Amino acid sequence: MITVKNLTKIYRTHTKNQNFFADIFFRKYKETIALDRVSFEIGQNELVGFIGPNGAGKTTTLKILSGILYPTSGTVRVLSYIPFEKKKELLRQISFVMGQRNQLIWDIPAYDSFTLNKEIYEIPEEQFEKTVNELSELLNCRHLLKNPVKTLSLGERMKMELIAGLLHRPRLVFFDEPTIGLDLFSQETIRDFIREYQSKFAATIILTSHYLEDVKRLAKRLIIINHGKIIYDGSLEKITTKYSREKTIRITLEKSVDKKNLTAINPAFFYKFPEVKFKIEKKNLPKTINLINESLPFSDLTIEEEPIEEIIKKFFSENK
Ligand SMILES: Nc1ncnc2c1ncn2[C@@H]1O[C@H](COP(=O)(O)OP(=O)(O)O)[C@@H](O)[C@H]1O
Ligand SMILES: [Mg+2]
Repeated sequence: MITVKNLTKIYRTHTKNQNFFADIFFRKYKETIALDRVSFEIGQNELVGFIGPNGAGKTTTLKILSGILYPTSGTVRVLSYIPFEKKKELLRQISFVMGQRNQLIWDIPAYDSFTLNKEIYEIPEEQFEKTVNELSELLNCRHLLKNPVKTLSLGERMKMELIAGLLHRPRLVFFDEPTIGLDLFSQETIRDFIREYQSKFAATIILTSHYLEDVKRLAKRLIIINHGKIIYDGSLEKITTKYSREKTIRITLEKSVDKKNLTAINPAFFYKFPEVKFKIEKKNLPKTINLINESLPFSDLTIEEEPIEEIIKKFFSENK
């Protein structure tokens, strides 16, 4: 579906001189290497998480893939097309959905904006109605379609943006920070929606997000970019196994215990009755659970993975 080879993007921005004439005759340019020989391939029906710190080059990559920007060098093929040529056949099959920018018109209902998209993409009436119904059902926002966009909450507006971006049922979707700024509940809804969209329309998806939780819940494959270079491309599982060496055992005690008993099990713990948390190395998990079983009166026990944020942080500190 997507082939990117040695993609490089350099932004040239003009920096102003003090002197007007100097400005005209000796223009100074500042160059930013946003992407530095980036290569990857993405196959049909994949859902890839594309992550990296601010300014790493994620949005630039997605803009190039969707034909908004042209590359400085390298080759890019999307569904065998060159995106920057903006062939209608390609544009009809892809979509670029940004969490931060909105295409909906503020003063009118989302539904009316959708009808504009219907004309642009030449979507047949019947298919249009069917898709609006399906997508708004999935997002649980059908009752809001006829309300002016300005009266909607941020989460509701994002749902409408998603529908607008997906009305033409693209088989390839680039989601750029689709959950940014949303509350946890809306984030969850949008995650579920992306998953459902993918399976329902057999779509291929690249998703960037600040919230690693998004990526963890949705993507099996992860591409990590930093300073315009790809520093990891592989399964999320592999990175978790390699960089997450700790787990947390959380238990609820039935009665209070002496701290000595806890130290004996594992020196690293947090205790505030009735809760105890042990931070342990993965390899010590069975041993520690046995010890807990033998020596502590508890009513509940859960084992928690390290937060994905921590894992990625470690990855970065070891792969600079
Ligand atoms: N239009 C632009 N002009 C000049 N520099 C830009 C422009 N857009 C992005 N950049 C720079 O390119 C780099 C990559 O930006 P971007 O792709 O937006 O990163 P990300 O989406 O990962 O946060 C950053 O250093 C950013 O400042
Ligand atoms: Mg960005």
